[in-house]
Amino acid sequence: MRFTAGRAIMRAVLPCLLGLALALPAFAGEHKSAAPKHGILLVAFGTSVPEATPAIEALKRDAEAAFPGVPVRLAYSSHIIRDKIEKEGIRKNSPAQALADMAAEGFTDVSVQSLQTIPGREYTDVKATAELFAHMPKGIRHVSVGRPLLFLPEDIAAAAKAILPVLPKHARGEAVILMGHGTEHPANAAYSALQLELWKHDKSVFVCTVESKPAIEDIIPQLKAGHFRTAYLVPFMSVAGDHAHNDMAGPEKDSWASRLSAAGITPKPVFVGLGSRPTVARLWMDHLREADKALGL
Ligand code: CO
Repeated sequence: MRFTAGRAIMRAVLPCLLGLALALPAFAGEHKSAAPKHGILLVAFGTSVPEATPAIEALKRDAEAAFPGVPVRLAYSSHIIRDKIEKEGIRKNSPAQALADMAAEGFTDVSVQSLQTIPGREYTDVKATAELFAHMPKGIRHVSVGRPLLFLPEDIAAAAKAILPVLPKHARGEAVILMGHGTEHPANAAYSALQLELWKHDKSVFVCTVESKPAIEDIIPQLKAGHFRTAYLVPFMSVAGDHAHNDMAGPEKDSWASRLSAAGITPKPVFVGLGSRPTVARLWMDHLREADKALGL
């Protein structure tokens, strides 16, 4: 009796199962039909200095060369910079806008590379924004974010190795001061980690920041004690933009150049950003490559 009932159930259920089995490949097909569309988004802080823009564009071309055939987009994370240049008729997308456009265009797999030096606020904001798109209905299926220049201990060692050979040749009595941005974020410690790494190779290279610690006044006594008479000033930022032209080398009394001059040390500013130094730009591209590999395409 039970047996027959079971059979009856089977008779009733079987066509359904068959139907489902037939329908399944169709479902699978539909899922597959959203063919992977691979893209890359580079996020720079941005710059309002027209001479610094080509350095950012060059990084975009580096990414295009590293990933032939993969569309590479560029966004500026700084609202202030975007607003400022928009008044001059230059429109740049925010990271969120760039990702929204990519989602709308059907990109399914996107790696995002932040062109930051340290994992501070700018980087964590970009990372959070990018990851939201992977959780959004009809967003981007897979998003992978590349780490900034100074992140892992080996990144700090690699950055030191990349920058040292391309610094101005300095004789005895000449120092090189790298100008980092600096932040209230705990990631500011990355500059000190870089300093320690640099000192393993060259005791006349110093790292200072514009907006945090160590500040220029923190190292002036050290420079004096070391009998340095000259100091090359080198931006440790992706571009030699506003901070390089004003805070580092500007004529104002509180610029680094003026403070050093007042201390009897001749400043020699160098207007080359990290993005224009191929040995350093390559490190960002390496991080992008790693992030992209994590997409598993
Ligand atoms: Co700034």
